Amino acid sequence: MITWRVTLVVPVVAAALVLSACVSSSGTGTAPASPSDQGRGGAGQVPNAPQLDAARVGEGEAIYGQYCSSCHGADLSGDPGWKTRNADGSFRPPPHDNSGHTWHHSDGLLLSLTRDGSGLPESRMPRFGNALTDDEIGAVFEFLKSTWGPEERAFQWQVTWTEQQGTDA
Ligand code: HEC
Repeated sequence: MITWRVTLVVPVVAAALVLSACVSSSGTGTAPASPSDQGRGGAGQVPNAPQLDAARVGEGEAIYGQYCSSCHGADLSGDPGWKTRNADGSFRPPPHDNSGHTWHHSDGLLLSLTRDGSGLPESRMPRFGNALTDDEIGAVFEFLKSTWGPEERAFQWQVTWTEQQGTDA
């Protein structure tokens, strides 16, 4: 079980900036914090990630297939050229698997991005607030979490837990 501590800097209010940095980045993004970060001050001890709910994962997979896969790929791999913008400056759909950035974001940020959009003028990501409930959007991310590796899952749980504590530091 992973019980390391880490200080995270994830201001939710900067959602648009976070997304912008994410989709315009040419590298592979921030690596997950390593166990060598143990002992640093900051956020309290992070509990283990909650177990995923199999029924909710199944529900989320069906919703993903209906609402998300046309752009993000049935296999979650996104647009092959997602690291490069379109000629008009717009973004291409990024992957939702381990190779993307989705797992860098807290549950709260993922919900607001999907429900309300990023607010970026270059965004081509639809807003789903009228089509899906918060619970349905949450189920989609429950499904995506079920596909991530243990490090990605642990990292995303850390940022979510930190957000829930209101201890962004
Ligand atoms: C019409 C195409 C399209 C559909 C359908 C779509 N997306 Fe997106 N999505 C995008 C694009 C393009 C981006 C890149 C950022 C932007 O344009 O705002 C994106 C970005 C995202 C991000 C940010 C990922 C990151 O690395 O920061 C999330 C999360 C996301 N989409 C979730 C979803 C979910 C969940 C659904 C289904 C409910 C969905 N998308 C459906 C096109 C789409």
